Amino acid sequence: MTIDLPVREGNAGIPPRKVRDWWRDAVVYQIYPRSFSDSDGDGLGDIPGIRARLPYLHDLGVDAVWLSPFYPSPLLDGGYDVADPRDVDSRLGTLDDMRALVAEAHALDLRVFVDVVPNHFSWDHEWFKAALATAPGSPEWARFHAMRGKGPDGELPPNNWPSAFGGPAWTRIEGHPGWWYLHLFDSSQPDVNWENPEIHADYEKTLRFWFDMGVDGFRIDVAHSLIKAEGLPDGPEPDGLPMAGNERGPAWDQPRVHEVWREWRRVADSYEPTRAFVGEAWVATTEAQAAYTRPDELHTTFNFHFLKAYWDPEVIRDVIGTSLLTSSAVGAPPTWVLSNHDVWRPVTRFAPWRDATTIDLETGRRRALAMSMLSLALPGSAYLYQGEELGLPEVLDLPDEARQDPTYFRTEGAAKGRDGCRVPIPWSGEEPPYGFSTGTPWLPQPTDWAGLTAEAQAADPTSTLSLYRQALRIRRASEVLGDGELVWRDSGHTDVLAIERPGDGAILVLLNVSESERLVELEGEVLLSTGVAEYDDGGALVLAPDTCTWIALP
Ligand code: GLC
Ligand code: MG
Repeated sequence: MTIDLPVREGNAGIPPRKVRDWWRDAVVYQIYPRSFSDSDGDGLGDIPGIRARLPYLHDLGVDAVWLSPFYPSPLLDGGYDVADPRDVDSRLGTLDDMRALVAEAHALDLRVFVDVVPNHFSWDHEWFKAALATAPGSPEWARFHAMRGKGPDGELPPNNWPSAFGGPAWTRIEGHPGWWYLHLFDSSQPDVNWENPEIHADYEKTLRFWFDMGVDGFRIDVAHSLIKAEGLPDGPEPDGLPMAGNERGPAWDQPRVHEVWREWRRVADSYEPTRAFVGEAWVATTEAQAAYTRPDELHTTFNFHFLKAYWDPEVIRDVIGTSLLTSSAVGAPPTWVLSNHDVWRPVTRFAPWRDATTIDLETGRRRALAMSMLSLALPGSAYLYQGEELGLPEVLDLPDEARQDPTYFRTEGAAKGRDGCRVPIPWSGEEPPYGFSTGTPWLPQPTDWAGLTAEAQAADPTSTLSLYRQALRIRRASEVLGDGELVWRDSGHTDVLAIERPGDGAILVLLNVSESERLVELEGEVLLSTGVAEYDDGGALVLAPDTCTWIALP
């Protein structure tokens, strides 16, 4: 066996010291509240619905939950249009429900992350309504970005920035000809102005509000956009929607945004125990991403480079290698993300497409599961998006009338948007709404999900759900999984990744990315496998294609 990556000098062969800052290796389960569980039959998932399902999450074996926004909102961007960041949308519950949720989660040893959206408010936020009641130039407008347009009468937007959801990032201010306000997302999401100390103070108030309630951390929405280049100059000509890593130019990843994160880190560190941040920063490289997790900034960021990897051994090996190197250079744990409420579900992403209508979801499901089991064995923290543990596919055939994503509307249907990964969770029963609600779900569920419900899968020891439960139990009990060292091994095949987590109770993780069975010469005992993995008479492990296997080394 060869070692491709250097083991840290002076540390070779010594079991990793387990750093038990929980956020360094937490498995975090993302809840998209509207689609998780509905307690009152209005078709919209809610906080009491989540509370009722906490035992399910505890039993699944995750360490933390992250709740996407549940704040008062006109829901023009699924709640990422926040009208009041220090309250709960009355359709989803009350502040008391949130207090109870935090207490109940803690009693089950689950930490709670909530979402904070610092780039913008909703146009229903009282500060934006106050601005609209004044003329640009007022202190009320100074909380946002109001600018005169170009052209003799200001009839053209102030610059060429595109909205991430399509169209320009500017909308006219009614009653004030020639004036525009900035929104990097929907026009219902005016960007706030981080050059204004009032904005800093208000967000600190929001952080403290939830920290004081006992929340353990925040997921920070678009953490790379707050600071805009001085003067808001034109950027490069837009080339596709600035989303999912395609954000370029003066609105994104500006050096001074890091000052905000230093400020926020001091707020988190003023609590005992310290609270944690995970930043959503779709930046170009793993190096640029690592800059967000320097020791005095955010604790972690989502690793979207991993999410973008496709089914290719070199691509997967590479992204793991660079993620580990760049994160360890700043002392931060890497994170592993395959899925969230903004991207196609991995089962469909990894599926081979025979033609536009025949998608091999079975292969997709095997590969997605194998990737997920790989990610749960890597050093650092891992994210699961609700329904990932059930192997749900992307819903590609939502009727257009049902669609709600602003992307669909702002591109006039050219981009279908992200509703297909937000379809409510199937819990039980044979037909929609599958125990999600007693009413009509806000997005229709497919009629062929009976076999995918949590109830059906819990009863089947070979189901996707059962495999996740098994993996998370092994991970919790293991001394070598989670935070710690990784050593690349040679499986004898370029298309079979072999990763050792060394130490007492060492585990070898194999990922067969080839299209055929592969024989691997090694001694050990199969702990878990997403596909067939058996020793043959000669003592070699025979590994099915599209399979991830965890092996206990002797
Ligand atoms: C983030 C969220 C996404 C939202 C956008 C604007 O990317 O994950 O859902 O639309 O920010 O807030
Ligand atoms: Mg409800």
